[in-house]
Amino acid sequence: MASSQPPPAPLDARFDQLLSALTVGIITLDKRGHVSSANAAAADMFELGAREPIGRALIELVPSFVLDQRAREAVGGRSWRGQVPLTATHTTRMLTVTALPVEGGGGAILIASDETRLHELERNRHDFVSSVSHELRTPLSSINLMIETILSTGFDPDALEMFLPRVKHEVDRMVHLVEDLLDLARAEAGRLRLRREVVNLASVAANILKTFEPKAQQLGVSLVQQGGDAQIDGDPDRLAQVVVNLVDNALRHTPAGGTVTLEVAPSEGASTLVVRDTGAGIPYNDLPRIFERFYVVDRSRSRESAGTGLGLSIVKQIVEAHGGTVTADSEFGLGATFRCVFPSARSALREPR
Ligand SMILES: Nc1ncnc2c1ncn2[C@@H]1O[C@H](COP(=O)(O)OP(=O)(O)O)[C@@H](O)[C@H]1O
Ligand SMILES: [Mg+2]
Repeated sequence: MASSQPPPAPLDARFDQLLSALTVGIITLDKRGHVSSANAAAADMFELGAREPIGRALIELVPSFVLDQRAREAVGGRSWRGQVPLTATHTTRMLTVTALPVEGGGGAILIASDETRLHELERNRHDFVSSVSHELRTPLSSINLMIETILSTGFDPDALEMFLPRVKHEVDRMVHLVEDLLDLARAEAGRLRLRREVVNLASVAANILKTFEPKAQQLGVSLVQQGGDAQIDGDPDRLAQVVVNLVDNALRHTPAGGTVTLEVAPSEGASTLVVRDTGAGIPYNDLPRIFERFYVVDRSRSRESAGTGLGLSIVKQIVEAHGGTVTADSEFGLGATFRCVFPSARSALREPR
C-alpha cells in the first residue's frame, strides 16, 4: 500500500494481553473511521462472529446508525457517551458506549459495556411494582365501594349482611397476597430459611391430601396418592407449601369427575414428587411462563378462582432452595403434570458401602 506514514509501532505484548482480558469492549478506529483493532469482549458484545473486523467500516460490522454516526463524530473530534440498543437474532442487547477522539486527529476509541442484564432487572422491577399495585388496588376499590354503600345506607342491616362477608373475603385475599409476596421476597433474596431435617415426602403428601379431602369431595374430584416413601433433606413446612400450591392448582383446574394424583417415588440419588390432574391443562405457549411471578394463563377466568399467579413462583423458589428442580408438562385439554425432583437425603444415600 502506498502510504506516506510509517506503520504503527507494534503494541506491547502486555497491553495486548490486558485488552483481551478486559470485560469492556474496546474498538479503535483509524482516522478514516475504519476498525483498526477490536478486543475479545468487543467481538462478543457486537457479535462480530468469525468476521475479520480490521480494516472494515464500523457500519459493515455493527448494524447501528446511532453508533456509526457517533463514531464518525468522535473521529472528527467530538466525544459522546450514550446507550446503543443492538438487535440480534434472538435478543436485544443494551450497550453503554463511550466514543472518544484520539488526540491529534488519530481516529477514535469506542469503549462499550453490556448493560442488558441491568436493563432487564430494571424492567422486571417496574413490571413487578405495577403488578403488585394492580393486585392491591382492585380489592381495595371494591372494599371502598362496599363500605361507602354501608355508610350511605346508615348501616342498613341488609347492606351489612350483604357486604361484610365480601369485605372479609377481599381482605383475606390481600392478606394472602402479602404473605405470598413476603415469601417470594425472602426466597429471591436467598433468605428463605430452611429448617433441614430428614423428611418423608410421602407423609407430607398424605397430610396435605387429608386437608384437601373435604374440598375435593365438594368439587367431585378424586384425590389419589401413589408410590412409596422417599426421604429428602428438607424443611417439612416449606415442602408442605409446595404440595398445597400444586394440589390447590390441580383441584381448581379439574372439573367434577376428574382425578388429582399425587405420586411420590424414590429413584437413584433423587426423590420425585409428581402432581397430576385430568383437568383443563395448560396451553403449550403458556407452559414456559407459568413459573413467572404473577403469570396466570387466563386472566378473565382467574378472577373467579382468586389466583394471583404467585403460587408457582413460590413453589419454584422453595424447590430450588432444596437443591431440586420443578417442571411442568401438559397436553391442553387433557390435564397437567408438575414434577419436582429433589436430591435424596444424604443419610439415605449412605446406605451402600
Ligand atoms: N394444574 C393446572 N392446570 C391448569 N393450569 C394450571 C395448573 N397449575 C397452574 N396452572 C396455570 O398456571 C398459572 C399460575 O399458577 P400459580 O402461580 O399457582 O397462580 P394462581 O394459582 O394464583 O393462578 C395459573 O393461573 C394457571 O393458569
Ligand atoms: Mg396457585
